[in-house]
Amino acid sequence: MTSPTPHAPPTPILRPLWRDLIACAQLLGAVEDGASLSTALPQYAARGKWDAAQRGAAQALSFAVLRHLGTARAVLAQLHPKTVHPPLLRDVLHTALALLLPDMPVQYAAHTVVNQAVEACKRTPALRHAGGFANAVLRRFIASPELYNTVCAASIEARWNHPAWWVKTLQAAAQQHWEDVLDVAQRQPAMTLRVNTRRISRTDYQSALMACDLHGVAPDDARLDQTLILQHAVAVERLPGFASGWVSVQDAAAQYAAALLDVRPGQRVLDACSAPGGKTAHLLERADCTVLALDKDAQRLHRVDDTLHRLGLQAQTLMADAARPADWWDGQRFDRILLDAPCSASGISRRHPDIRWLRRASDIPALAATQTALLDALWPLLQPGGKLLYATCSVFPQEGVEQAAAFLARHADAIASPAPGQLLPREPQQRTNDHAAASPAPHSQDGFFYALFTKSS
Ligand SMILES: C[S@@+](CC[C@H](N)C(=O)[O-])C[C@H]1O[C@@H](n2cnc3c(N)ncnc32)[C@H](O)[C@@H]1O
Repeated sequence: MTSPTPHAPPTPILRPLWRDLIACAQLLGAVEDGASLSTALPQYAARGKWDAAQRGAAQALSFAVLRHLGTARAVLAQLHPKTVHPPLLRDVLHTALALLLPDMPVQYAAHTVVNQAVEACKRTPALRHAGGFANAVLRRFIASPELYNTVCAASIEARWNHPAWWVKTLQAAAQQHWEDVLDVAQRQPAMTLRVNTRRISRTDYQSALMACDLHGVAPDDARLDQTLILQHAVAVERLPGFASGWVSVQDAAAQYAAALLDVRPGQRVLDACSAPGGKTAHLLERADCTVLALDKDAQRLHRVDDTLHRLGLQAQTLMADAARPADWWDGQRFDRILLDAPCSASGISRRHPDIRWLRRASDIPALAATQTALLDALWPLLQPGGKLLYATCSVFPQEGVEQAAAFLARHADAIASPAPGQLLPREPQQRTNDHAAASPAPHSQDGFFYALFTKSS
């Protein structure tokens, strides 16, 4: 997944904070009810007739609050142990409490938060009666700042702002690094670009960025030869040549896929789970190959067509279930197969802070079973001597190392080829001055898993 939308800081000067509090509370409520932020945001924006600034502010605030929802929930449970009704009031309080937390990057004066939360209640018919209650709860938190440390000491969810099962899975999987992984999920990621070197060289694109007062740093990794990293996200419209296909937004970890698959001109390639098309396009930018791009979600598949059109690339796109080749395969084997499988998305928790609250522990074995079925269905479609790249944007071993080991145990004709294995998410410390960042440093990347299997001839 890529996230081209920038996370601009809220602009309280232009718009009263109470509006953003209500907008954010509505989005939180949708996530509490099981909707993803990417589904809820356009719906609420259309319903509330939000302009671009309101929408941007609601998104930025909801990202920040979702990253602190575990602590906010625990604080509210201490301040008011009974269920808060209606749910919108609970969500306004979670938003306001998150804004009062000491580790919240967006800081407002405490009295402003209280005053604006009360105003949000007054302005909302369903909450008109609740202003006094909101005022009392928030003032009690301000009067007892030690509560923050108390709840963080008592609850894993409050301390790490992820569900306890998620934290425990990571503790077992990434034994020395689990705290870093969770810390990275709390930070705003850099914006990573992939230059379409069919259109423009990376060096020339770097200059084009400079001319727009943007500074793109090339990572210190030969495999990332199309990559430039911007320290701060900007709207894609600000990227020179975006509309005419000079560049795409794609995380660095996702950019390893095309080089690993080592596609050569003229080869037949299957991209089994292709939408929204980031990796399909990357494969085609690197080699004149023939790509069949499948996805079982028709709407998402349209995005593959849009991406290819913008970049001036061509592939055959087909809505189909990759796990049922009998429905769509013409019997001609592929030289390369990319299986970027549906997964927990636990490696991109920093870009999608709603995911951690939407997933359930029981999703992981179900997703692992889907991944196994896809691997086993696609393996017979590969030419002897061909390569299949298995990828997930996950940091859970059930979807990564364990899945790959089990696949090798089931398929005697599969040979493990060199691949990165588990990549953990990371975000280097922000530099104080973009223009001082001339030398490459450890680059920003999402959590990803890669295994490459070659079929014995
Ligand atoms: C991780 S995303 C793929 C991202 C894409 N490769 C990219 O780089 O832009 C997984 C995709 O798999 C699709 N999918 C899930 N199950 C599928 C199946 N059985 N057959 C085909 N596509 C499937 C989902 O609709 C989703 O678009």
